Amino acid sequence: MNPSDVTKVGVIGSGVMGHGIAMSFARYGFPTVMYDISEDLLKKGLESISSGKFGLQRLVSKGTITEDKKNEIIGRISITTKLSDLKDCGLVVEAAPEIRSLKAKLFSELDSICGQDAIFASNTSGIMISELASSTRRGDRFVGMHWFNPPQVMKLVEVVRGPETSDSTLEVIRSVSGAMEKVPIVVNDGPGFFTTRFINSWLMEAYRIFEQGIAGIKEIDQMSKLAFGFPMGPFELSDLIGLDTMLHVADYMFEETKDRAYSAPTVLKRLVLAGYLGKKAGSKGGWYDYYGIQADRNQK
Ligand SMILES: NC(=O)c1ccc[n+]([C@@H]2O[C@H](COP(=O)([O-])OP(=O)(O)OC[C@H]3O[C@@H](n4cnc5c(N)ncnc54)[C@H](O)[C@@H]3O)[C@@H](O)[C@H]2O)c1
Repeated sequence: MNPSDVTKVGVIGSGVMGHGIAMSFARYGFPTVMYDISEDLLKKGLESISSGKFGLQRLVSKGTITEDKKNEIIGRISITTKLSDLKDCGLVVEAAPEIRSLKAKLFSELDSICGQDAIFASNTSGIMISELASSTRRGDRFVGMHWFNPPQVMKLVEVVRGPETSDSTLEVIRSVSGAMEKVPIVVNDGPGFFTTRFINSWLMEAYRIFEQGIAGIKEIDQMSKLAFGFPMGPFELSDLIGLDTMLHVADYMFEETKDRAYSAPTVLKRLVLAGYLGKKAGSKGGWYDYYGIQADRNQK
């Protein structure tokens, strides 16, 4: 398949990542169909695309795009709760929850719905592409396309080459990413690839330091910014990512590597079980809310 053959893109999931990924494709001219398990979730996703913090209205306010352009972009996005509506997509990007069995089931169903040539890409944070690809019969057209949060803004796409991913599949993903002004960097498969393996141990260590009473949440965030120049501290970043996603990733990384550096401390599990999932829809709040701390997000 040539990059120009990607005339329609399917995005699975309309949550934190899915809606931003769908917006990115539509903004750069790709007709996009966004799938989720309920109409309500899809409507929330569309609302975020239109008027969310990183949505199109912000680009209109900044003068980056006109109101007409905004409407044109929204017009390129259709929504569906039927997986079969993705049958004529040349590229499907999956951004469903970080649960192995759920993703495997989705890909296996999509494998019988989509055309032979269609490329499947997973936005998994760390599940090995080799494992996900094995639930399909298209290992050569299966690839990791790991976006960063918020996907509308962040430039990197970590492109994960599975054991059978073909050069032409990589070329399509590189080219499509470039068309959206992203920077695709290809890595080989392994739990967490580069970026999640790197960031996960850092985040878990920050939680442990807090759990051991060595420093507070706000202080750790402030120190991370002041000492290392990070744009966000580990607790602010986790709230943005979603604490349930963080927990899924940590459990997976620990299960695969048996390295305690990746394992989730009790403080994280406690928040997730209590419904504190970060800044995402349906959450009670994040680290700062649970501990009743006033964030000082301007502190650099
Ligand atoms: N949050 C981040 O910062 C981030 C960054 C990079 C990668 N990721 C990865 O992206 C993926 C999605 O994460 P997210 O943060 O958008 O999660 P999310 O929980 O915000 O969104 C997941 C969406 O998938 C939908 N969903 C649930 N069951 C489904 C099913 N059976 N089929 C299809 N959709 C279903 C949910 O309704 C929800 O809208 C995960 O694999 C995650 O690890 C997340």
